[in-house]
Amino acid sequence: MNRKAILLAVAMLGTGRLILTGQHQTAPGVFTSAQAEAGRKAYENTCGRCHTYTLLGRKGDADELPPVSSLPAAYRKFIGNPNHVPPLAGRAFLDRWGEKTAAELIARFQVTASDPFFQFEGMNDDTTVNITAYVLQVNGAKAGTQPLTRTTGVVVNSLIQ
Ligand code: HEC
Repeated sequence: MNRKAILLAVAMLGTGRLILTGQHQTAPGVFTSAQAEAGRKAYENTCGRCHTYTLLGRKGDADELPPVSSLPAAYRKFIGNPNHVPPLAGRAFLDRWGEKTAAELIARFQVTASDPFFQFEGMNDDTTVNITAYVLQVNGAKAGTQPLTRTTGVVVNSLIQ
């Protein structure tokens, strides 16, 4: 190869790399849509009562659903006054959880899910995994063919579109 050809090859390599890194690379789906759908139903009967149906948490605004007044007294006491429940979706949530793995998120959810204070009906390990699938989906991750498990080691941010 003469010098010109080498320079050209190097230039092309450089462009190729630019194109590759210029694209936002997202990992293939690590949960199924069936898991996310089961997770949505479980979430709305459990975590969602406090963290709200939008997953955006509570600041005490009147339009937060379900209304805080519909919750049992023990739940209202836990939430406190002024009402504050942290979000499970959006920028503030991803700032805290985006660099963690799906498995770490499941493990954190498990702590709340198995806390006897909440008395969640029908909550088991699968439910917690499904709820995590739903939370990932609401945060912008796409479902795929691979089911989510308690050992899924992928980093949350790499799943977000
Ligand atoms: C009774 C209301 C209530 C319910 C039900 C509830 N949470 Fe929470 N959750 C809170 C409040 C209030 C906080 C903030 C105070 C604290 O951490 O104890 C919180 C904190 C959290 C955090 C920490 C947030 C962060 O960014 O570190 C996670 C994660 C969480 N909850 C997940 C869940 C999951 C998953 C469920 C359902 C299995 C659930 N919660 C059910 C009220 C609730």
